[in-house]
Amino acid sequence: MIVPAISFVSTAMAVSRVGATPVFVDIEELSFNMDPERAAAAITPRTKAIIPVHFGGAIADMDRLLPLAEEHGLAVIEDAAHAHGSEWRGRRAGSLALAGSFSFQNSKVMTAGEGGILTSNDAGFAERAWSIMDQGRRVGEGWFHHYILGSNYRITSWQAAVLLAQLERLPDQICRRTRNVALLRAELDGVPGLALQKVPQQQNVNSWYLLLGRVRERDEFHRALTAQGVPCTPFYPHPLYGNPLYQESNCRVEPCPVSEACVRDAFWLSHRALLGDEETTRQVAAAMRQASGA
Ligand SMILES: Cc1ncc(COP(=O)(O)O)c(C=O)c1O
Repeated sequence: MIVPAISFVSTAMAVSRVGATPVFVDIEELSFNMDPERAAAAITPRTKAIIPVHFGGAIADMDRLLPLAEEHGLAVIEDAAHAHGSEWRGRRAGSLALAGSFSFQNSKVMTAGEGGILTSNDAGFAERAWSIMDQGRRVGEGWFHHYILGSNYRITSWQAAVLLAQLERLPDQICRRTRNVALLRAELDGVPGLALQKVPQQQNVNSWYLLLGRVRERDEFHRALTAQGVPCTPFYPHPLYGNPLYQESNCRVEPCPVSEACVRDAFWLSHRALLGDEETTRQVAAAMRQASGA
């Protein structure tokens, strides 16, 4: 199964857990998402699925990935852990392919502490996933009747209640982050050596879980920005295949020069830093400008 080399490790672990081989492919320069050309080049007769990650809330290029998968008879599973509320051509993340997975872990834009949901546009798939989630039961059948190997992967009603309340405020929060990202872009336009994430025009809503960028002297930028109280993360320390797990276990690594470069020069601000008022956001922009040495 084809996964991007840049993601949280769960994207690849989910593949390894079912005994399949994660095939790591490169990302694009500034979308930070799976490069469809690299995905196409990695397909072999053994390939079963493509798992694009909507990184930071920015939807992967589904206009190219979906036809590619169709041409080769592959399933597409959206890793939408970052993309609550993001939309591509008016359609929500998680509704664009066979299946989509969302995370409600603590750092996410909607959180129940932990937990997640799986979405699907295929009734048969959804029924089977439901059964696996609920101890192999079938919808509408007896509590003590178990048809397939499952487990207790159920989210609790308490978590669901907390999440439903958050769902109501999600659109307002997305609007606020979108406004603030636009302001940051305007304030930082033309700063030498600093490039913010590019979002394709087909994406009409972005959750802005992360605001990503690439910058010259990233480590210095990160130190200076955090010293000014702006929370900033200096990207992942390695592409996924650099983890000890994947140095020792089954995987395939395609050439990933962009991923390797991002490890050296990329950074992100979390969604929490994008919820301030206009004055605070101008201060964040000023701190970023100064940290980049402009
Ligand atoms: C891209 C991505 N996929 C999957 C996950 C896994 O989600 P969870 O921790 O809810 O299993 C995360 C983060 O936690 C993530 O960032």
